[in-house]
Amino acid sequence: MNAPVTLYHRSNDVQRQDAKDILDEYSKVIKWRKDGRDSLLDIGCGSGDVMIDFILPIMPKNFSKLMGVDIAEDMVKHAKLLYQRPKISFDKCNIAGDIKAILVDHSEGFDHVTSFYCLHWEWNQKKAIKNIFDLLKHDGDCLLVFLAKHPIFDVYKKLSQNNKWAPFMEDVDRFISPYHHRENPAADFNELLKSTGFTTYNVKLVDKTYVYGGLNTLKRNVSAINPFLVNMSPNEREEFFEDYIKTIIHMNISQKDEDENDYKFISSYKLLVAYARK
Ligand SMILES: C[S@@+](CC[C@H](N)C(=O)[O-])C[C@H]1O[C@@H](n2cnc3c(N)ncnc32)[C@H](O)[C@@H]1O
Repeated sequence: MNAPVTLYHRSNDVQRQDAKDILDEYSKVIKWRKDGRDSLLDIGCGSGDVMIDFILPIMPKNFSKLMGVDIAEDMVKHAKLLYQRPKISFDKCNIAGDIKAILVDHSEGFDHVTSFYCLHWEWNQKKAIKNIFDLLKHDGDCLLVFLAKHPIFDVYKKLSQNNKWAPFMEDVDRFISPYHHRENPAADFNELLKSTGFTTYNVKLVDKTYVYGGLNTLKRNVSAINPFLVNMSPNEREEFFEDYIKTIIHMNISQKDEDENDYKFISSYKLLVAYARK
């Protein structure tokens, strides 16, 4: 994701709200163990706050293990520093890479796997889902939530066609959800779960809207998740943000606030929510 971890930690209101809503609903669907000794692996845990604030509270009191993994070293370090304690751990792992190290240390597998706002970053969907399958116990289940479609992806594409920003955005397509241009993301993901070997699966595309109250809020959130800023100077970042806003206004996804002093940004997007059992 390449954004400063502390900025992500302070600017992930949308992700937190979505995780909370979905976990409220699925805490009753997840197949908890009778003895309450559940183990859970959260993939793409980022700075760790969603796992601690929303996943930990729905786990049985005497759970056996809660582990977060992320591809980004700085995210893992930050999460360890803030949240590691007995039964709760964090480690580095690319979910579409080699998962042997995790399987060696946790050979029995996990009762549950969760993932919030991560899998749209991964183009090797087949490998990621196969790894999730392999990380689960024989009767384990998973709850996977990620962006299928979002106007931010169109903004990225548009800005990458601007000569000024093209050099910073050569790999733009890698940062657009693999499902953004699909006609039926839910059907495609359903098929992937089935072909991987999951026996029960329920996939839905959920319409969501988030209203960013003002330029500053939008700026913080955009900066926190923007993968193209790393090689830009502070001035370039400011200019990039100005062009970003102009593009949003041009694409008609903003409206002037009532007092006319600021913009309100309305972002309508589609989340893919999948629950599956092995
Ligand atoms: C937007 S953050 C979401 C963090 C947290 N789950 C939340 O809901 O706030 C996405 C995280 O996924 C991680 N990520 C991206 N690709 C990954 C991969 N292939 N394997 C593991 N983590 C990955 C990123 O490093 C980032 O920390």
